[in-house]
Amino acid sequence: MDTPLDIAALRHDYVAHGLRRVDLDPDPIKQFARWFGDAAAAKIRDVNAMSLATATPDGRPSARVVLLKAISERGFVFFTNYASEKGRLLEANPQAALNFFWPQLERQIRIDGSVEKTSREESEEYFHSRPLGSQLGAWASSQSEVIASREALEVSLALVTEQYAGGAIPLPPHWGGYRLMPETIEFWQGRTNRLHDRFRYRRQEDSGWIIERLAP
Ligand SMILES: Cc1cc2nc3c(=O)[nH]c(=O)nc-3n(C[C@H](O)[C@H](O)[C@H](O)COP(=O)(O)O)c2cc1C
Repeated sequence: MDTPLDIAALRHDYVAHGLRRVDLDPDPIKQFARWFGDAAAAKIRDVNAMSLATATPDGRPSARVVLLKAISERGFVFFTNYASEKGRLLEANPQAALNFFWPQLERQIRIDGSVEKTSREESEEYFHSRPLGSQLGAWASSQSEVIASREALEVSLALVTEQYAGGAIPLPPHWGGYRLMPETIEFWQGRTNRLHDRFRYRRQEDSGWIIERLAP
């Protein structure tokens, strides 16, 4: 197929930073927070956007972007519609993977593990911190369902706007957070000649972490 760009020729060398074992925090969550801080300081747009990969029980993968909304020693939190495609997939197979790519820093972070739902209190607190339009949108949209038209969506938004006019908007029962509890976290730093630096943390049974360098 003819493409306007020669995609195969798109490449550049990664020269900005290196990553050494001595640079790494023994705790991958602290290491993540450090890199996240660097990315935020570099003013990367949508710095908290991450690909979320799920799989059906028989191994068919799918991926989409969601926003990271909290990090703690327990894991990585994002919010969504539990009845969406990803919600149904996570119900059937609570294994998932996350991926961040920050091109300006030549860095990638890969995370995998199992997910659990956040508590209703945690979901409530985040839901009510969102702009009112987003809260209404969560009621108006049956995420991932086939709909007839844009108009149908706008009618649905108008109906819930009327329904909740003047009052508090409750947390929809089908909406809330997931926490991915990491089993492995890999920090990838682009280097010259494709000899990138990669370090993977693997969770141990005693809840400590093993750090290994991987070939690029
Ligand atoms: C930058 C960006 C951020 C997004 N953040 C979220 C999010 O936090 N939660 C969410 O449910 N969808 C988010 N979306 C939309 C999802 O990518 C996706 O379209 C939606 O969740 C439906 O996915 P599903 O059909 O696989 O369930 C975001 C999309 C983009 C591009």
